[in-house]
Amino acid sequence: MRSLSGNSLQNQKLAARAENHPAARSQNKRGSRLEVEHVSLTYQEGTPFAVPALEDVSLSVHAGERLAIAGPVGSGKSTLLAVLAGVEPPTAGRVIHEGGEVTSRRQPPAGSIGLTFQSPENCLFEKSVLDDVAFAPRRQGLDEREVKNRVIDALSITGMNLEQFGHRSPFSLSTGEQRRVALAGVLAMEPAALLLDEPTAHLDPLTRRELIERLVRLNEATGVTMVMVGHDMDELARFAQRVVIIDGGRLAADGAAADLLTDTVLLAGHSLDPPGTVELCELLEKATSAPVTAVIEEVKALELLLGLIEKRTGGSQLCR
Ligand SMILES: Nc1ncnc2c1ncn2[C@@H]1O[C@H](COP(=O)(O)OP(=O)(O)OP(=O)(O)O)[C@@H](O)[C@H]1O
Ligand SMILES: [Mg+2]
Repeated sequence: MRSLSGNSLQNQKLAARAENHPAARSQNKRGSRLEVEHVSLTYQEGTPFAVPALEDVSLSVHAGERLAIAGPVGSGKSTLLAVLAGVEPPTAGRVIHEGGEVTSRRQPPAGSIGLTFQSPENCLFEKSVLDDVAFAPRRQGLDEREVKNRVIDALSITGMNLEQFGHRSPFSLSTGEQRRVALAGVLAMEPAALLLDEPTAHLDPLTRRELIERLVRLNEATGVTMVMVGHDMDELARFAQRVVIIDGGRLAADGAAADLLTDTVLLAGHSLDPPGTVELCELLEKATSAPVTAVIEEVKALELLLGLIEKRTGGSQLCR
């Protein structure tokens, strides 16, 4: 497996700059708190084409947490993210941002919530990658030096760099590159809450893994609230402290990632697989006929496996 700490200097720089992130500076290391209360949303309500997408969903997103939203295709995950961001007004119920209700008159302050759409490449519009990623920081009135720093940092988190891509037209990029640029544009805004709709789709395995690691580091360094929708359970296990499952537009489960992602019966009931670590634990249990507590951390799963090998070989195989 390729080392993830290969560009540690860059990571150190990122961590140092993350300490200066507005969420860290101005909110004493706290991201935004978001809530939806008894929210229902029906698309094209009152027409023959009405589609109920959310039904009576209540959810609190705590300041600074990393929350994952999982669920089958078409279950309402993207709709819930759009509702949380205040871009899709609910048909019933309320959305609360930092204690205040979001209405058409009272929206969250500009730049406080960053939402990346499921097809973010459609949101690119500037003539160069640099200008696209710089769009929000420029609107925030930052000087060009700070804008450039923000662009460099945001692109780095998504695994890109200014020298190679800054001058390119966003429309000449591959789909995966476009998605990374679009995400960088939202990151450059340095919002207090980041809502990410399948941010790793169309990316290669290593880039996906690195992106998740960098998002986790960013959250730890700045306290920015993060909500991520995803279908890859291994990724959700690496990312989330807490997980909710949406099914048929309803909140089906809400719990600590370590509890919920190891509950194979619950997951199967919502067409979801457990992470690979949990499947490994099940195999270990079968192989040893002894109870094995399922874990979602890869390091812990590896420790369990090594412990088993050690028991079987008396440790001799491990010392070669
Ligand atoms: N603009 C729209 N107009 C009408 N119906 C919509 C619209 N957007 C979504 N829907 C419907 O609302 C339901 C929930 O859609 P949503 O995109 O939130 O699901 P999802 O869980 O994000 O699915 P996926 O995993 O495929 O991304 C689906 O039945 C979908 O067909
Ligand atoms: Mg979706």
